[in-house]
Amino acid sequence: MSGNHHLYVPGPSNVPAAVQQAIHCPMEDHRNPTIPGLITPLIEDLKKIVLTEKGKVVFFPSSGTGCWEAALQSTLNIGDTVLGASFGQFSMLWLDMCTRLQFKAITMDEEWGTGANPESYHRELSKDKDHKIKAVLVCQNETATGVRSDVLAIRKVLDDLNHPALLMVDGVSSVGSYEFRMDDWGVDCVVSGSQKGLMLPAGLGILGVSPKALEAMKSSTYPTCYFDVQDMIAKLETGFTPYTPPVNLLRGMRVALDMLLEEGLENVWKRHHRLAEGTRRAILDGWGMQLCAKEEKWYSDTVSAIVVPEGEDAVPVISTAFNTYNLALGAGLAKVAGKVFRIGHLGDLNELMLCSAIAGSEMAMMSNGIKVELGSGIAAASKYWLDNPSGA
Ligand SMILES: Cc1ncc(COP(=O)(O)O)c(C=O)c1O
Repeated sequence: MSGNHHLYVPGPSNVPAAVQQAIHCPMEDHRNPTIPGLITPLIEDLKKIVLTEKGKVVFFPSSGTGCWEAALQSTLNIGDTVLGASFGQFSMLWLDMCTRLQFKAITMDEEWGTGANPESYHRELSKDKDHKIKAVLVCQNETATGVRSDVLAIRKVLDDLNHPALLMVDGVSSVGSYEFRMDDWGVDCVVSGSQKGLMLPAGLGILGVSPKALEAMKSSTYPTCYFDVQDMIAKLETGFTPYTPPVNLLRGMRVALDMLLEEGLENVWKRHHRLAEGTRRAILDGWGMQLCAKEEKWYSDTVSAIVVPEGEDAVPVISTAFNTYNLALGAGLAKVAGKVFRIGHLGDLNELMLCSAIAGSEMAMMSNGIKVELGSGIAAASKYWLDNPSGA
């Protein structure tokens, strides 16, 4: 197919040309003397992305899922109780992982389209008088439903109850895109990955750990090897890694972090909000459709899950977009399969890039009998962006 591919799944996101060029470098010895000059500043800059000065940040050659595992296994013991809310494919899978790794998971089921409910956390944590719950899990951005949760509100619940559990956050599709503050929000473990807000290919899991999590690691008896966070920290402090790292990705990360830090993290967050808001105007005002996220407070600035009208199927919309317009839209997962399609709006992105996703979605919906007025999404998004210029 001629022309550009239009990638609007909520990760992997588009990789900027400068990052691609940096990755496209000759292979090199990962123990050569220039490596600490690459790795040490990267670790310092990742701390600026998750906003920690007190904690440590490591990466593993894995995806985000690997760091879910690393966070749990490094800090807890087999049989420990963890608490988390399930309201979409990813929040559900992290809790499923807990069970599979022999932790006792208390799962609070919330309606898909809503997010982590502080009242549910309060209810469960206040029952836990003898502090059996060792970790509290929150998925900040549920990518399957386009739902954002309020991490600070969960921190407050823990503080109000004086509960000592570790606060673990899945920031895979939020870190580097919208507000996340590790130190200020008292987060003990934050998990992310390279292929979303960090504008890199998949292949690196990122994990931030607080001093409290580091302390918990000292008494954890869970056997760890590849994902041993303490080993990784110790080796990273020498500027190297315990095993072969994807050096090319790290070279790319150097450029990606420079781009993010040059734009300024708060500006990156503002850009994501503005682009997300324009996309929402297309969906809600232009097309007159619904988001899976039930209320404004849940709206995600990195992904919108669009509910197709009752009786329609989102699957052929996604196939037409791909086969006819070279446009990759996100599929509905699990409970919302066939009911939603998703537009990812994260990473290296601007208004006109999103216009291609909006126009392609309109045409793919029309081709499949979903009635939207052609051009209505573009008109509503453009109007929003015109009325709310960047930098205003
Ligand atoms: C919120 C969230 N958590 C976890 C994951 C799993 O991350 P990965 O696919 O990088 O292992 C994803 C993947 O999309 C995600 O969106």
